Amino acid sequence: MPAVVVIGAQWGDEGKGKATDVLGSRVDYVVKFNGGNNAGHTVVVDGEKYALHLLPSGILTPGCTPIIANGVVIDLGVLFEEIDALEARGVDTSALLVSSAAHVIAPYHRTIDNVTERFLGKRKIGTTGRGIGPTYADKISRVGIRVADLFDETLLREKIEGALDQKNHLLVKVYNRRAITVDEVVEELLGYAERIKPMVTDTAHVLNEALDRGETLVFEGGQATMLDIDHGTYPFVTSSSATAGGACTGSGIGPTRIDRVVGVAKAYITRVGEGPMPTELFDGEGERLRTIGGEFGTTTGRPRRCGWYDAVIARYASRVNGLTDLVLTKLDVLTGLEKIPVCVAYDIEGVRCQDMPVDQHAFGAAVPVYEEFEGWDEDISGARSFEDLPKVAQRYVRSLEEISGCRISTIGVGPGREALIVRHDLLSN
Ligand code: IMP
Repeated sequence: MPAVVVIGAQWGDEGKGKATDVLGSRVDYVVKFNGGNNAGHTVVVDGEKYALHLLPSGILTPGCTPIIANGVVIDLGVLFEEIDALEARGVDTSALLVSSAAHVIAPYHRTIDNVTERFLGKRKIGTTGRGIGPTYADKISRVGIRVADLFDETLLREKIEGALDQKNHLLVKVYNRRAITVDEVVEELLGYAERIKPMVTDTAHVLNEALDRGETLVFEGGQATMLDIDHGTYPFVTSSSATAGGACTGSGIGPTRIDRVVGVAKAYITRVGEGPMPTELFDGEGERLRTIGGEFGTTTGRPRRCGWYDAVIARYASRVNGLTDLVLTKLDVLTGLEKIPVCVAYDIEGVRCQDMPVDQHAFGAAVPVYEEFEGWDEDISGARSFEDLPKVAQRYVRSLEEISGCRISTIGVGPGREALIVRHDLLSN
């Protein structure tokens, strides 16, 4: 079972590192295929907490090759900061490979991200301000800078001149900002060229050869289904393909080579940034989930919006990604609740809907229809088999499985790597 795609089944921050943890040392390659340093994985290894933004979580697993593939946008300054921080803590990062076709986040992308958000006012997206959207926009407009361009100064300068020509008009005339000079951008980017060179390769070739050898590859999605540029809650989304299909375009392997698609979902739901969220809680219950679940952004530190598990979203995620498995994380956060509400459908202007509405207006108007499940008081953080869970917790998980339309293969019961219950191995049928 060599190629496994792991994606977020909600609005991000589901704890996707948990799924990679289950696979552990059996994984030969961990591939980041979309997004950039807007992501944030918190991984706890031997009680030590690591916050990763750009590097794939496989960087912490000895013997595993971490890959930043073509679908990613790279802020080179952040990349080296993250590498240096890990090296300072004794983590060997020398195996990292970077695609020559990945796009580079330039200083003007960050500036444009922030000024456009300010200009949008109350229509703002609530981006992470890392320049992600403008970099992908340049990629699609064919005026982007790719990693390979760093090694040809003449070409690099030409491309930056082309990109800045238009952008400086926008920055100065529309946004009242200072113009950015070609020299400052060229100098900054060239400053990274020598250091990144040994890591750069045709990663699509490397990955296809690894598959031919029967090695195990995990494609680790950044962000999540509901933030996907095509299938998420547009326009309140990120600018990349965060669903399973993105693993193919973002890494250069064909769809027929993927064996398993794993969705990661929390036992409740969170969202950062703007946009509708039907099960959002504005009361003490939401505050409780935020506090106990530690729901503050790894990248921006923003408090996450919290709400009950939304099975309409789970079913949608299951469908658009073709999920074979769900990994349910943070079940322990629900301990102590007398009743656990789960959204099973939406009421949209008096009509009960089982499926995700296709238009923005209807989703904004969706009122959750809840079913309540019995809660438990026992500490479940030490549970390592399904039978260790209290009967009512087992019932809760089985019910989620049924209404989400996908089997729950793994359950997270605490922050540590070992705090897991494995019901079905993600690497076998
Ligand atoms: P951008 O990706 O910075 O352009 O932000 C677009 C939207 O995606 C905003 O609502 C962000 O809060 C959200 N977003 C981006 N990355 C993450 C993530 O890793 N977790 C959760 N939300 C994210």
